[in-house]
Amino acid sequence: MKVTVVGAGAVGASCAEYIAIKDFAAEVVLVDIKEGFAEGKAMDLMQTASLNGFDTKITGTTGDYSKTAGSDVAVITSGIPRKPGMTREELIGINAGIVKTVATSLIEHSPNVIIIVVSNPMDTMTYLTHQALGLPKNRIIGMGGALDSARFKYRLAEAVDCPISDVDGMVIGGHSDTGMIPLTRLATRNSVPVSQFISDDRMSEVLEATKVGGATLTKLLGTSAWYAPGAAVSGMVQAIGCDLKKMFPCSALLEGEYGLNDISIGVPCIIGKNGIESIVEIDLNDAEKAKLEESAAAVRKTNGLLNA
Ligand code: 2OP
Repeated sequence: MKVTVVGAGAVGASCAEYIAIKDFAAEVVLVDIKEGFAEGKAMDLMQTASLNGFDTKITGTTGDYSKTAGSDVAVITSGIPRKPGMTREELIGINAGIVKTVATSLIEHSPNVIIIVVSNPMDTMTYLTHQALGLPKNRIIGMGGALDSARFKYRLAEAVDCPISDVDGMVIGGHSDTGMIPLTRLATRNSVPVSQFISDDRMSEVLEATKVGGATLTKLLGTSAWYAPGAAVSGMVQAIGCDLKKMFPCSALLEGEYGLNDISIGVPCIIGKNGIESIVEIDLNDAEKAKLEESAAAVRKTNGLLNA
């Protein structure tokens, strides 16, 4: 498969690196607007191929989208990242224009491409991409829930004091500090509810730490995180390329699912060769439903800024 990653900054380069290391793609094309930057990152990454044992060919281009022609999947990471103290929503002004231009250029050269949106505010950028391209809804997917769920599992394992592979959990809702909904009720340790191992108070701490997972890293790093976002994207690209039909919470355009319409927001999706193969409707309790509605209202408010 051929994958394009637009934006060769830390997140984009990390996506390319993890995709290459997993060795399922024939080609990754990195695109950036900064002269020579994508070419440099691609060359550096290619010089790890013999060391890391992958055969994926990584190339870079300064804005020449003809090099992306025939891509099966494209990842949009372009735009400005948040700085400490900023919300993801504050990035909308600059990033909306960039994402729209990038999405249009991608589709011109790869009419069948499946697009994964990473740029923030992610749910709104995913919605904007739907509006701009009008593609079937399965072909535009927002990356947020996969990352937030990985952060949730990290916090759960820390609280339970067990290996991360022993815990399972999922985050739905908007990819924002207030909109995320870590489904604590459904979190398990080897199929046993996590609530059996930690107190309600400790669970509340896990929930809060998960929601501000991105902000915590932004404060520590001075910019947005990249390893976990890159790993989350690579997992989704692999699920598409290898038709894994793997479940990830993703920002999907809803048409009545969960009682919501005309919005992209995080819900569990089955990801395979067609992108979003289906949306999984889990049985939420009343409190969880109320939180999802509240989260959707916040995403709609940000979407409203698109045409302001
Ligand atoms: C994060 O949460 C980049 O929004 C992304 O780290």
